[in-house]
Amino acid sequence: MNDYKTDIACIRLGNIHVIIVSCPGIAREFLIKQDAVFASRPTNWSSEYVSLGYRTTALAPYGEHWRKMKRVITNELVSPLKHQWLYGKREEEADNLVRYVYNKCKNGGLVDVREAAQHYDGNIIRKLFFSRRNFGKGREDGGPGFEEVEHEVMIATVDNPSNAVEWGLAEMLNQPELLKKATEELDSVVSKGRLVQESDFPKLNYVKACAREAFRLHPIVDFNVAHSSMSDTIVANLVLIEPSLNLITFGTGRRSCPGIMLGTSMVVMLFARLLNGFTCSVPPNEPCIDLSESEGGTIKAKPLLAFAKPRLLPEVYDIR
Ligand code: HEM
Repeated sequence: MNDYKTDIACIRLGNIHVIIVSCPGIAREFLIKQDAVFASRPTNWSSEYVSLGYRTTALAPYGEHWRKMKRVITNELVSPLKHQWLYGKREEEADNLVRYVYNKCKNGGLVDVREAAQHYDGNIIRKLFFSRRNFGKGREDGGPGFEEVEHEVMIATVDNPSNAVEWGLAEMLNQPELLKKATEELDSVVSKGRLVQESDFPKLNYVKACAREAFRLHPIVDFNVAHSSMSDTIVANLVLIEPSLNLITFGTGRRSCPGIMLGTSMVVMLFARLLNGFTCSVPPNEPCIDLSESEGGTIKAKPLLAFAKPRLLPEVYDIR
C-alpha cells in the first residue's frame, strides 16, 4: 500500500474483488457506516475446512446460524453476568500466574513469558467453556501439563491476549524508562504489600496505555478477519475521522469481537501482575530483546524470555 501511496486498493482474484483498506477513516466507512452491507464473511475452501463447514461463529457467513452462535456467545458465555461469575476464577488464575513466575524466580529467574501468558489465558478459557482448568494433571509448579500444551494451538482467545502482553513487555524491556513509569504507577495505586486486583484497573491508566500501545504497534493480525458485502454499494465521501483503537483492536459493528470485556481484563491483568509482582529485565548476557516478527505473521519470532525477580513483600507470594 505504501508503494502505491494509497489507503485503499482493489485486487481481482478470479471474479472476486478483494478490497484492502489501510486507513482507519476508510475502515470506519466499511465497518460502521456500511456495517449492515459488510456483515458477512467470504466463503472459501480454507474457511469451510477449518470451521468444519462454517459451524463456528467467526467464519460463518451472515445468516441464521451466525446469529444464533453470536447470541449464545454474547448472552451465555461472555455476558456481563457471566463476566462477574468468572471473576473469582480469573483471580485464581492471576494468583496462579504469580505463583508460577515466583517458582521460576527460585530456579534462576528466567521466565518464558509466552508460555506463562498462554497458560493463564488457556486456564481461564477452559474454566469458562468446560468448567475445568486442566485437561490432564497439570504441573507441580503450576505450569501447563502436556495435554494443555497440545490443546493450546492457535486459538484466538488464548493467543490474542498473550501476544499483546508478550510484545508489550518486550518493547518495555528495551525501554526501561517505560517499565519504571508503569511500576511507579502500580506502587502508588497498589503498594508493595498486596497483589494488584481488577478493582485497581480504573486507576491504572499508564498500564492500560501500555496495553493499548502494544496492540497499536503489534496488531493481532496483518488484516482484520475479512468482511464480505451482501449487496452492491458505493463507499464514498471518505471523510477521515479520528481513529479509534477499539475499532482496530476488537473490530466494531455486527461482526465485532464479543470477547472485548474478557480479553481486556486478561491483557490488563497479565501486564499488571507481571509488572507489579516482579522486576523484569533483559536476561543477563543479552544486549536487548530481539523484536523480530515471525515470518509472514505478527507474532514475535522467538518467545520472550525475561529475567524476573520478586519485588513485593515476601508474604505476598504466599498465595496458596
Ligand atoms: C485481546 C483479546 C482479543 C482480541 C484483540 C480480539 C480481536 C478480535 C477481532 C479483531 C475480531 C474480528 C472483528 C471483525 O471481523 O471486524 C474478533 C472476532 C471474534 N472474537 Fe475476538 N478478540 C479477543 C478475544 C476474544 C475472546 C476472549 C473471545 C471469546 C469469547 C473472542 C471471540 C470472538 C468471536 C466469536 C469473534 C467472531 C465475531 C463474529 O464474526 O461475529 N475474542 N476478535
